[in-house]
Amino acid sequence: MSNTILIGFMGVGKGTIARAYAKEFNEFAIDTDDLIESLENRKIKTIFKEDGEPYFRELEKKCALWLERSVKDSIISTGGGFYRQENLKKIGKVVLLDSSFDGIYNRLKNHPNSEKKFAKRPLFQNIDEARELYKKRSSEYRKIADIILDVEDKSVDEIIKELKVKVQLSI
Ligand code: S3P
Repeated sequence: MSNTILIGFMGVGKGTIARAYAKEFNEFAIDTDDLIESLENRKIKTIFKEDGEPYFRELEKKCALWLERSVKDSIISTGGGFYRQENLKKIGKVVLLDSSFDGIYNRLKNHPNSEKKFAKRPLFQNIDEARELYKKRSSEYRKIADIILDVEDKSVDEIIKELKVKVQLSI
């Protein structure tokens, strides 16, 4: 396993960072939500609406097993709940992209496509519920991470360079 796997709360920028990192360091970026949407030919929010969250978690599990078996030398961004997969550590080096809840909320709020960014996330429909989920998950994210990277108020460029150094140091 030579993958880097990015975990962290919804909207922290896992996909953005994975894509920028792959481009800069000539690797390949994979996103678990994209894989699931492509497998199902449906958007995540439609999967949640039509079949519910437990079904979505089953798809994440299937995806995690496939990643472990079939993917190497890649940077993998994940959905915010993917960190609970039992084989996470077997897929790759686990990196938590860390930010305060307000930092994440402002990032989404200030995005030019802000409305879409919230609309596509079934678990980010209500700010108080999202904040509660953040509180519950943040210690769990920390527990499972091999590397913690503070991303708040940093540029994408700064983050990917810092990530590269941390990954190399941890090999
Ligand atoms: C989820 C996060 C989402 C997506 C799904 C569930 C979660 O991905 O996988 O809506 O449980 O935190 P992002 O982290 O990209 O928003």
